Parts: sequence; structure tokens; C-alpha cells
Amino acid sequence: MTGVVAIDGPAASGKSTVARRVAAALEALYVDSGAVYRGITWAALERGVDVHDGAAVTQMLAGLDLRFFARDGAVVFSIDDREPGDAIRTQDVNNAVSPVAVIPGVRIQVVLWLREMARLGPLVMEGRDIGTAVFPETPCKFYLDASPEERARRRHREMVEETGIEEAEVDASLRRRDKIDSSRKMDPLQVAPGATRIDSTAMGIDEVVSTIVAAAKSDA
Ligand code: CDP
Repeated sequence: MTGVVAIDGPAASGKSTVARRVAAALEALYVDSGAVYRGITWAALERGVDVHDGAAVTQMLAGLDLRFFARDGAVVFSIDDREPGDAIRTQDVNNAVSPVAVIPGVRIQVVLWLREMARLGPLVMEGRDIGTAVFPETPCKFYLDASPEERARRRHREMVEETGIEEAEVDASLRRRDKIDSSRKMDPLQVAPGATRIDSTAMGIDEVVSTIVAAAKSDA
């Protein structure tokens, strides 16, 4: 495959698992664009920068040394020579990331970085605006969805063992994030023109993966 497969959708719709497997099947590099927004959020929280202060976050971002590289089939990144790892998946980052991703200075910079990643090879990139803003010209676009209840169940299953978090809290946090992500002015979450919408509420991962791989191969 050459080019980019774009997979967008709301939080916990299964994008990461699906995109990783699609990338492996297509021998492309997997990119989690949300991880970059999370990395910036993590850096802001660590430095005590107010995540609701757009000017302060944009100024911090200008001073960050973000580098990305291919490793084990994915594009990974470091910030000031540190790879954040699981530190970007905490509930503090979950709650602060959507306000950070609303900031125009952040979005402009991240979109540039994501586009540069295409130099590393063919990509399967998942996020919120990949088919609309990052690679709008790719013919291979998907919008992965699932009901809010199913998404809360999935994310709760991922988090409960380590954090003991209640499902109601996960559900409230996802809904808050969805609301900010779909109502923001710049590149809101929406179905890209020409995207294939897949509702995975009652579908297994294998079925979703094979649907996307088949479509990507026929588009290539
Ligand atoms: O994995 P999960 O669905 O929880 O979210 P994520 O992909 O890690 O993205 C975290 C947050 O980053 C989202 O809630 C958005 O606010 C933001 N994001 C974005 O604005 N644009 C993207 N392309 C990807 C993520």
C-alpha cells in the first residue's frame, strides 16, 4: 500500500485496536494522532501550565523538542528526549486533553507534524480530523463509531483493573470529551466527505478490521 488510511471516530470507538491491526495487515505504520495531543497535555500538566490558557500552552509548545520515528510498526515520539509511555493515559490527561486540542496553535502544529510522518512510509492514522483536515485528499477514509454505552463499557474494561474507576465516571468523562471534540470551531470531529461509516457496537474487531483492509486494498 502507498499513501494513508484515515480512521476517525469518537473516544473509545475501537480505533486504536482496529488501526493497529489494519496497519499490520497492510504493512503500513500505525499512527495514534491522539497520543500527540495527549503528549502535549502531559507536558503542560508536568510543567504546571494552565491547559485552559491557549497562549500559555502555545508558548510552551514552541519550546518543546518533539521528535518522531518508526518503531515496531508504529510511529512513536519523544518530547525533550523523553518518551511519555503510559503517563499520557492517566485520568488527569483524559480530562485535560480535549481543552488542549481546542487551541488553534496546538492544532496547527500537530497537523504539520502528522503530515510530516507520511515521509516515513505508508500510514494508517487514527484520530478525529485525519480524513477532514490532516489528509483530506486520501481516498481511504473511515469513520468508526459505537454507541456511547458500549464505548463507556469498553474504556471502563481497559481502565478498571489499574484504577478501580467507576463506569459512570468513565461514561461522564467520554461524553464531556465527545462534546468538546465535536463542537469545537477548528476541525471538529465529524464524518469526512467520502468516508465509510462503520458502527462497531455489535461487530467484532476481526470483522471491522477485515472490512477496512478489503476496502483499502481495493482503493490502492
Ligand atoms: O483513545 P481515545 O479515543 O480516548 O482518544 P485519543 O485518540 O487518545 O485522543 C485524545 C483527545 O485528543 C481527543 O479527545 C481529542 O480531543 C484530541 N484529538 C484531536 O483533537 N484530534 C485528533 N486527530 C486526535 C485526537
